[in-house]
Amino acid sequence: MHQLRRNRRLRTNDSIRSLVREHTITPNDFLVPLFVVEGNNVKQEIASMPGYYRYSLDLLKNEVKEVWAMGLKAVLLFVKVPDNLKDNKGTEALNPDGLMQRAIKTVKDVAPEMLVMTDVALDPYSSYGHDGIVEDGYIVNDPTCEVLAQMSLSHAKAGADFVAPSDMMDGRILAIRTLLEEENYKNTGIMSYSAKYASGFYGPFRDALDSAPGFGDKKTYQMDFANRDEAIKETLMDIEEGADIVMVKPGLAYLDIVRDVRDVVDVPVAVYQVSGEYAMLKAAAAKGWLDHDAIMMEQLIAFKRAGAQIIASYFAKDVVKLLG
Ligand code: PBG
Repeated sequence: MHQLRRNRRLRTNDSIRSLVREHTITPNDFLVPLFVVEGNNVKQEIASMPGYYRYSLDLLKNEVKEVWAMGLKAVLLFVKVPDNLKDNKGTEALNPDGLMQRAIKTVKDVAPEMLVMTDVALDPYSSYGHDGIVEDGYIVNDPTCEVLAQMSLSHAKAGADFVAPSDMMDGRILAIRTLLEEENYKNTGIMSYSAKYASGFYGPFRDALDSAPGFGDKKTYQMDFANRDEAIKETLMDIEEGADIVMVKPGLAYLDIVRDVRDVVDVPVAVYQVSGEYAMLKAAAAKGWLDHDAIMMEQLIAFKRAGAQIIASYFAKDVVKLLG
């Protein structure tokens, strides 16, 4: 009796491996996160995110042009808000001439077809560094949803294509969708951070925006990382409330969740490879301990294999350069 099935035949050389490869990475897979600051001619490297920068609006233009020229067609905007504009109500978040609103217009000016998504949460605007309004040490749900809806409307008016609520309040998708419909922004989409875990991997991001919580942590709204089934509940509720795209966050440590979600939803699934994941690889590569490009590709393919169609990643430009 001969061995009839030899799986290694399909691994013999690169040509056959390419032919049978199940997943690939292209520029179309990515959302490029961009950090924006006030000022002129500002390009500040984020200490815990080597090779990643905050840009003032004038330099953001060049960055957006470069990103677009590379074939990357979607950005996810975050702003670093000056301390004197922070309060407990999100006042500045609703300013029609605020940094986010100007950033949206700046991107659309230089790359009209660039898909612009905006982060919707109060943390960069909050004197407490929390994603919502704080009363007696508690992040109050329903008043926060009202502000998030107004904030989303303000982003839509400035030209955002999608709003991306990252706050994890209950009912915020419904509140946002309802207001957008009422105000006739019917084509403004919602990418919901549906299964967002309370994670230590967000540390470098909070350095980038100076948005770390001033007291406590985010465990009363972000999910407990010990929970798996709850991710399905969160995600299905967001879809019922009107989310067009759902997201799992962080990425690498949550591939089981990506697959679980993929198996039950009928909308695109995004994954966020967050700041701490970026920092880990950059640090290990700088030490010469890991092969940067090899690990980067392996991780990104893992997201696709797990079932994500969209990847928010600080590696987006690195990848496109590598793909050539
Ligand atoms: C804000 C927000 C966070 C991230 C995206 N939107 C931080 C947080 O929730 O504390 C994290 C992104 C990253 O770490 O790359 N709500």
